[in-house]
Amino acid sequence: MNMDRRKFIKVSSSVAGSLAMSHVGGSFLAHAEEATKMAELGPSGSGKVPDFAKDMLTSDMLGLGPDGKPTGQKATFTGASMANATAEKAMKHQMKLTAEEQAMLDGEKGEEIAKLMKILVLFGNTFGAEKLVDLGGAPHSNLYPGAPYLGSMIKMLDECAEAGLKSYAPYTVNPRPYDVYNVQNNTKEMEIVYDGYPLQKDLDWVHARLGSPDLNIRSCACYIKEIGNAPEPGTYVAWAESSAVNYGNSALGIRTNRNGAGIDLICAMAGKAPLFGLMTDEGRMAKWLVDVKTSKTPDWGVLGTAIGRKVVEDVPYVVGIDKYFEGGEITEDNLHLLKAMGSATAASGAVGLYHVENLTPDAKDKGRKLLVEGYQTYVYDDAEEQKIIATFDNLWPEKDKGPTAAFIGCPHNTYHEMLKWGKLVTEALEKAGKEKAAIPVYMFCANVVRTRVIEEESELAGKMRRAGMLPTPMCGVTWAGTKGFSDRVRGVTNSAKTRNYSTIRYFPDQTLVDIIVTGKVPA
Ligand code: F3S
Repeated sequence: MNMDRRKFIKVSSSVAGSLAMSHVGGSFLAHAEEATKMAELGPSGSGKVPDFAKDMLTSDMLGLGPDGKPTGQKATFTGASMANATAEKAMKHQMKLTAEEQAMLDGEKGEEIAKLMKILVLFGNTFGAEKLVDLGGAPHSNLYPGAPYLGSMIKMLDECAEAGLKSYAPYTVNPRPYDVYNVQNNTKEMEIVYDGYPLQKDLDWVHARLGSPDLNIRSCACYIKEIGNAPEPGTYVAWAESSAVNYGNSALGIRTNRNGAGIDLICAMAGKAPLFGLMTDEGRMAKWLVDVKTSKTPDWGVLGTAIGRKVVEDVPYVVGIDKYFEGGEITEDNLHLLKAMGSATAASGAVGLYHVENLTPDAKDKGRKLLVEGYQTYVYDDAEEQKIIATFDNLWPEKDKGPTAAFIGCPHNTYHEMLKWGKLVTEALEKAGKEKAAIPVYMFCANVVRTRVIEEESELAGKMRRAGMLPTPMCGVTWAGTKGFSDRVRGVTNSAKTRNYSTIRYFPDQTLVDIIVTGKVPA
């Protein structure tokens, strides 16, 4: 499987990431100790990696684009601007623990909690955290593909579940990597996904026991009303999933770092996380002022891509876009604009937090006091937008052929987006005298969102179905990461994040509607 998106542990930045991932048979404490010894031998990324962690040596953040060419990115991707974090520093730094935490570390609450605490302390020390904080709200996990390279992690979590550990609160999880009802509903694709994800059942079962039982709420957009994982502003959480972290920190005002898969669940079981980076006031200060001066509504995905490329993992303070949010509020009907922009900043760069003047909670509270002294300015205008669009190459192997499928909803569609796209496509088809779209249109959303559409807009839901618009709860980018995908599928999308991670081509909404109706990409 060519699974770039999901090979997500950055080797050079995370000793603790390796620890979080580490276990093959036997005691996982033994492996933690082995990893500690390895860390003492030299900085992470020095090549001295214990055998059990060998599957963790790749990342979607290796700085390669979907075409395999270097993107020029260099960052730790923690969102903490801690590019100089090293194993040596972790060995020297020692964060302060409360008496209760020390007791947990010493095994007074059981052997497994002690092991988790060891990992958390090393993780915190690596990034210079001063202490652990108690978590609130609910966790969100991005551990969703049951792929062999995650076998050691899944086994570790299974040990925890067997020991009776649970998340401190019921938690949400990213979408599953396939959907054999609507998408991989043929033998060829089924073979690929069943071969690629032999541990899916094990992973689903671990999540159920640790505290995330319901597959109907699986979604990367965990913060939407139908799912409801939207903690109060200021709440410390330990989320994983770049788009959810980005939205949560920015639009909800929660406090989380960009955690690697595994650390999220270790924090969830301990109920604690090390305090550093985006969880601190200092880490939430903006180093960039992004001045949006487009003559009309910006293309949100392109804007996000531009910001991510420019600021990489720093925090931007965006001005000039609050006017596109009626009444200066983020609502159910407009949150998708921030979702599109933010997820693109997180994918084309590693932005874990942005502020929007007069709109997002931190910015409403503190305004331009969030800008650091000597901040840089980036102006995004019509010319800049065109410049970014011009870099979106056609990566289809057969460039001149027509599209074969549309991918809408990365991050997952909101209810509002489902209705918007349902109307856009079915009305355009009606106008063209057609009942069915020229290509299948996959509408990625949580099952609970699909159900709400059926219940509240049944007529539209029927029209969408007849038009070939298929709601599916999977992650579309995962499919795009399967071996040989670009030879089988020439995709088109409205998601700048999908474009960033795959060969699927990005188009503005109206162009995408035309392509769906005609089956042709305009010259
Ligand atoms: Fe969600 Fe998958 Fe996109 S998890 S953000 S649909 S890459």
